[in-house]
Amino acid sequence: MSVLLPGGAGYIGSHTAVELLNSGKEIIIIDNFVNSKPEVLENIKKITGKDFKFYKIDFSDEKELEKVFKENKIDSVINFAGYKAVGESVKEPLKYYRNNVSGAIVLFEVMKKYNVKKIVFSSSATIYGDPGTPEYIEEMGRGKTTNPYGTTKCMIEQILEDIYVSDNSWDIGILRYFNPVGAHESGLIGEEPKGIPNNLMPFIMKVANKELDHLNVFGNDYKGTKDGTGARDYLHVVDLAKGHIKALEKLDKEKSGVFTYNLGTGTAYTVLEMIETFKKVNNIDVPYEIVERRPGDLPIFFANPNKAEKELGWKAEKTLEDMCRDSWNYIKNKS
Ligand code: WQD
Repeated sequence: MSVLLPGGAGYIGSHTAVELLNSGKEIIIIDNFVNSKPEVLENIKKITGKDFKFYKIDFSDEKELEKVFKENKIDSVINFAGYKAVGESVKEPLKYYRNNVSGAIVLFEVMKKYNVKKIVFSSSATIYGDPGTPEYIEEMGRGKTTNPYGTTKCMIEQILEDIYVSDNSWDIGILRYFNPVGAHESGLIGEEPKGIPNNLMPFIMKVANKELDHLNVFGNDYKGTKDGTGARDYLHVVDLAKGHIKALEKLDKEKSGVFTYNLGTGTAYTVLEMIETFKKVNNIDVPYEIVERRPGDLPIFFANPNKAEKELGWKAEKTLEDMCRDSWNYIKNKS
C-alpha cells in the first residue's frame, strides 16, 4: 500500500518523500514540475537508496489522476500540490483558485471514488489572517486572510471539514506550516523557487551567491519585535517533513476524524537575527538595505506548538543555525 504525494517533487514534498522512504513506506509521487525539477526525483533516490513510482501529471487532471488510482494500491495521500506565491496570488487569483482549490476538489473526488479516505493536507499559518495576537493556536480557527493564496488554504481546510461531516469514515490531518527554511543535510535537495523568490531565505541565498548585490529588508519600524524588523517562526524543512510522518501515524491510530496542527517551533526570529545568524554560521556577508514595509506583512507571528507535541509527539529539533547552514550547503552543492 502506497502513500500518494501530489506535488511530491517540490520543496516540502521532496523532503517528506525522503522521510517516508526512510521510515519504510512505499510512495508514489505525482508532479507536473511547475515549481520543481526532474532531478529532484533522482536525488531522493540517491539520499534514501530507495525507488518509487512517479507520474508526470497535473494533479487536477481527473483522467490522468484516475489512472494512478487504478494502477496502484493507495492507502493515503499527502497533498503538497499548490501554487504558493502570495504576491502572485493577488495579481492572478483565478490561477490560484483554479489550481489549488479545483485541483484539491478533483483529488478528493477521485479519492472518494476509490475509497481512499486518509489524507494529510499541507495548510499554512496564513489561514489565521491577522488575529491581533502574535501567538497562533489551533482553536483560534481560520481568520480573514489577506491574499488569495491564504484564502485557498482556508477553503480547502473547510472542504475537508465538510467532507468529514458528510462521511465520518474519512481520516484527515491538516498541518498549518509556519515558515519552512533549510535543506536536507546531504545538500542534494532544497528550496529552489522558479523565478523571483518571494521568501526571505531564497533572497538571502541569492545575495550570498552574489546573484543580487543586497537584500531589501522590508521595514525596521515594527513595534513588538526585537529590532523593529519582521519576526517569523522559521522551522527546518526536515523537522516539518518529520511532522508529516507523525501525522500519518496519528491517522493510522485514530482511524477517522479531522486533526489540525500548527507545525512551528514556537520561537520567532527577526530578519536581522536571520541575517546575522547566516553570516556567523557561513562566514559570508549579506549586505542589506532597510526599505519600506512590504504591504500586507504582519510584524510578528509564531506557533503555539503544544498540540502537535502532545498529540503527535512531534517537536521541532533543529536550530536557526542548522537552517542557515543547511540552506547554504544546498546552494554551494548545486553550483
Ligand atoms: C519573512 C520576513 C518579510 C523577503 C510566507 C509566504 C508564503 C507562506 C507564508 C506558506 C517578513 C521579510 C522577506 C525579503 C524581507 N508560506 N522579508 N526581505 O511573509 O511570513 O510569508 O509564509 O504558506 O510563502 O508568504 O514569509 O519569507 O516572505 O518573509 O525583509 O526580501 O522576511 O517582511 O518579515 P512571510 P517571507
